[in-house]
Amino acid sequence: MDSPFILVNLKTYQEGMGHNAHRIAAAAEIVAKESGAVIGIAPAFTELHPMSHHYAIPVYAQHIDAITPGAHTGHILPEAVRSAGARGTLINHSERRLTLADIDACVQAARRLHLESVVCTNNDATSAAAAALRPDYVAIEPPELIGSGVSVSKADPGIIERSVNAVRAVNPDVNVLTGAGIQSGECVKIAVDLGTCGVLLASSVVKADDPEAVLRDLVSLL
Ligand code: G3P
Repeated sequence: MDSPFILVNLKTYQEGMGHNAHRIAAAAEIVAKESGAVIGIAPAFTELHPMSHHYAIPVYAQHIDAITPGAHTGHILPEAVRSAGARGTLINHSERRLTLADIDACVQAARRLHLESVVCTNNDATSAAAAALRPDYVAIEPPELIGSGVSVSKADPGIIERSVNAVRAVNPDVNVLTGAGIQSGECVKIAVDLGTCGVLLASSVVKADDPEAVLRDLVSLL
C-alpha cells in the first residue's frame, strides 16, 4: 500500500489554535519526514492559510458548504478553502453533520475543485452510503468513542472491518480511514492491518504535552 495517512483534526481545541497549531504542524512535518508516513492536519478555517504557507504537510479544511461564490453570508466557500492552500476537506464530521444530499453536493464540489474529500461516517451502513458518492476517503468514527480516550481499534475492531468490507463492496477505489480514540502505534497498526489506509484523530495529539512524541509513537509500528 501507499504510505499510511495520519490526519490530525485540530477541531476548535484551544490547544490547536495559533502558536499551538504551529507547534503541532512543525512536529508533524518532522515526524512525516523521518518516518515516510503522510501526516496531514485539519486546522480551524482561520489557520488554513498560515498552515499551508509555512509547512509542507498537507492541510485539510474541517468542513465546506456546497455553495458557489455569491451571497452566502457565514458559509465556507469550497473555492476559498482551495485558495487558502487546502489539499482537501473533511465532510460530515460527527461534530458537523450534514444531510445525505448535502454530503453528495460537497463531494461533488470538492471533486470539481480538485480537493480531496474525506467523508466521515458513524457505522458500516453510512460508510456504504458514503462510498456510493465516490469520495477519496471514508472515515469511520463511532461517535461514542470520539474524544473518549478509548481506541476504536481496540474497543470495536469489528466496526472497522465491517466498514472496510462495506466500502469495498460499493466502490473499491474509495480509501478507508478510521478514527475515535486513536492514541498509539498499536492503534494505528490494528487499523491498517484491518484494511484501512490510516487514521483520523484529534485529542491524543492536540492535547498532548509533547505532540511530536505522540506522533512518533503513532507511526512507530508501520
Ligand atoms: O476527527 C477526529 C475525531 O473525531 C476523533 O477524535 O479525539 O477521539 O481522536 P479523537
